[in-house]
Amino acid sequence: MQAIIDYINQNRQRYIDDLKEIVRIPSISCSNEHKPEVERCGHYLAQKMREWGLSHAEVIPTPGHPVVYGEWMGAPGKPTVLIYGHFDVQPVEPLELWETPPFEPSLRDGNLYGRGAIDDKGQVYIHLKAIEAHLKNGNRLPVNVKFIVEGEEEIGSEHLEDFLKRYREKLSADVCVISDTPMLDKGIPSICYGLRGLTYMEVEVQGPKTDLHSGSFGGTVANPANVLAQIIYKLKDSRGRVKVPGFYDKVAAITDQERSNLASLPFHERDFLKLTGSPKLTGEAGYSTLERVWARPTLDVNGLVSGHTGEGAKTIIPSWARAKISMRLVPHQDADEIAELFSNYVRKITPKTVRVEVRKLSSGRGFLAPYDHPGFQAAIRALEQGFGKKAVFIREGGSIPFVGTIHEILQRPCILLGFGLPDENSHAPNERLDLENYHQGIISVAHLYEELSQVAW
Ligand code: BES
Ligand code: MN
Ligand code: MN
Repeated sequence: MQAIIDYINQNRQRYIDDLKEIVRIPSISCSNEHKPEVERCGHYLAQKMREWGLSHAEVIPTPGHPVVYGEWMGAPGKPTVLIYGHFDVQPVEPLELWETPPFEPSLRDGNLYGRGAIDDKGQVYIHLKAIEAHLKNGNRLPVNVKFIVEGEEEIGSEHLEDFLKRYREKLSADVCVISDTPMLDKGIPSICYGLRGLTYMEVEVQGPKTDLHSGSFGGTVANPANVLAQIIYKLKDSRGRVKVPGFYDKVAAITDQERSNLASLPFHERDFLKLTGSPKLTGEAGYSTLERVWARPTLDVNGLVSGHTGEGAKTIIPSWARAKISMRLVPHQDADEIAELFSNYVRKITPKTVRVEVRKLSSGRGFLAPYDHPGFQAAIRALEQGFGKKAVFIREGGSIPFVGTIHEILQRPCILLGFGLPDENSHAPNERLDLENYHQGIISVAHLYEELSQVAW
């Protein structure tokens, strides 16, 4: 191992330079205009996988964006690790808030700034670079690896489930390792054992056939913006509970044991509040902040448009109003069933004075699994060697649809080894990657492969 770690130390700067190259590619999956860039990014990644020593890499098309698959299977009799990440990124607006352009990666105060730096290109590279270090020092890896890096995680991984079912055999593995989550805080290596699911809806309220003069018509026809506001008002009560009937029916309760585990984590509400910049925290009554964000479902308006949003005053009754509304789910809520319950409820509370359309935009299941398999102890040892600290076990409030699906298909442990930080601005302007974490992450993962090869699967 020492030669491998020396190599990682010696190549620290080049590893950063290599990452910068892929961060330059604007692989924004939600925009049609960027489709060729997503494609180009996939091919670029496959090319790099070959260059850095994987024995095979290909770009596999799906009806949406492609999946990059790479492997190195030269360790017969050793365990096989399936590694997951994504190469697509979020949009960059509002552009004016970026200190340096999102696709011109730039180094400042120990960070690499750029869209995708942490979510998730940097974390994919942590694995690729650890693999490179192994392969360049002895031409071998202690385990077999299969790498799957998808191109539409940020838009809900719509085609991934079919893909995984179709290539089930090809993807068989002893363990799955996912690096796409944050750590609890800087200096606290974290292993995540739970994610929330997501159901994402769009509600459109239609009223008059065109915008109307609000003087000539106001008070006689329903205003879609007013009606939409009333609908939204009825979705949640003042104690933070979602009012969609049946919403909580399948929610897995938090056990006392887990409650005390979460309460003992080094988490500080004051720091969390500071991260948000909000005046005060709120949420579902009866739950702590960590419980609210990791273990309780919720509902939020993500976007809201109607009527005159330009400068000055314009007196109209808008013809329509539209909201994007998503629900974060916990095990064992079923994402599609929740979409159905939501649609029915919205339809029911919409008055006859307007028409309403409720559409599901995407959905993905949550994930929660025990972490008593010896593979998790291997991960703890690996992180200790990279970060000099013992890892904590956390859940997360975000969603990665792949994880729940692969866990169900493979029925193997899924180890979520994340290297992000809570303040790295993923999905926001000035996304960045802490370069020390990048380096320590690579060292940890280099150890992880070695440690996983020693586990009895
Ligand atoms: N890396 C995140 C997932 C994440 C975020 C995990 C925060 C833990 C904490 C991922 O890229 C992501 O943003 N997922 C989307 C998924 C959605 C589009 C289905 C999310 O959570 O909004
Ligand atoms: Mn991600
Ligand atoms: Mn993301």
